[in-house]
Amino acid sequence: EIAEEVKEIVGAGGKQPHLAAVLVGHDGGSETYVKNKVIACEQCGFKSTLIRYDDDVTEEELLLCVDRLNKDSDVDGFIVQLPLPKHIDEQKIIMAIDYRKDVDGFHPINVGRMAIGLPCYISATPNGILELFRRYHIETSGKKCVVLGRSNIVGKPMAILMMQKTYPGDATVTVCHSHSHNLVQECQAADIIISAIGQPHFITANMVKEGAVVIDVGTTRVPATDTKSGYKLLSDVKFDEVAPKCAYISPVPGGVGLMTRVALMKNTLLAGKKAIYKD
Ligand code: GUN
Repeated sequence: EIAEEVKEIVGAGGKQPHLAAVLVGHDGGSETYVKNKVIACEQCGFKSTLIRYDDDVTEEELLLCVDRLNKDSDVDGFIVQLPLPKHIDEQKIIMAIDYRKDVDGFHPINVGRMAIGLPCYISATPNGILELFRRYHIETSGKKCVVLGRSNIVGKPMAILMMQKTYPGDATVTVCHSHSHNLVQECQAADIIISAIGQPHFITANMVKEGAVVIDVGTTRVPATDTKSGYKLLSDVKFDEVAPKCAYISPVPGGVGLMTRVALMKNTLLAGKKAIYKD
């Protein structure tokens, strides 16, 4: 759908959307995520630019890079892949990004606008999950939705979006995390579980109600001897035992990761069209 729209835009003499990605260091997960984002850009007919820095890049250098991208009129949107090395203040980098180009939806202006239901860039993983609900016509209104995890990237925005008065949303939301006393009971009562806790195979069959919808955000990378890449991704959910109880369940891989890339591409298209922020 995105590629079709880009073809029409470019065919009519419009600008090809351009996403830039900044990657610091050689973290295996980040390398893979960014590589897949670049591939997604190609599939959508976007221009993409990858800017790489070594682990020892200074905060000042990175801030200068952000400033250059803010000012580059050919770049419609850009992301700085997280996590960043410890000596760099992540929040400072995010705050330096022009919110009009913040296609990750991490800048406080976008987070704030999202929270009160104003047009904005919504961060990709939660937005990709909303798209799953839409495409599979999953009812969310009035349902009990348990979000596991409270990160700025997934748990917090997900919980806010699921409680909005719009579809998908309008749910009764509970957020559980590593210090929740009653996490198992909360899950057992849930119509929808969105797990972003990052603990392999944490969600077992006894924690899931018959007919529940389970969304698995977990992608913990562990070394493996039986794969070509030398590692494998472990999901939060014990898929084989949980799946038979579910109305719907998202697989890993091929579930939320894929939808995250789709959502980033949709934000980039919106940025290219200046659909949210006009100037
Ligand atoms: N690290 C993990 N997920 C994301 C994401 O969606 N965007 C960025 N920039 N970094 C991430």
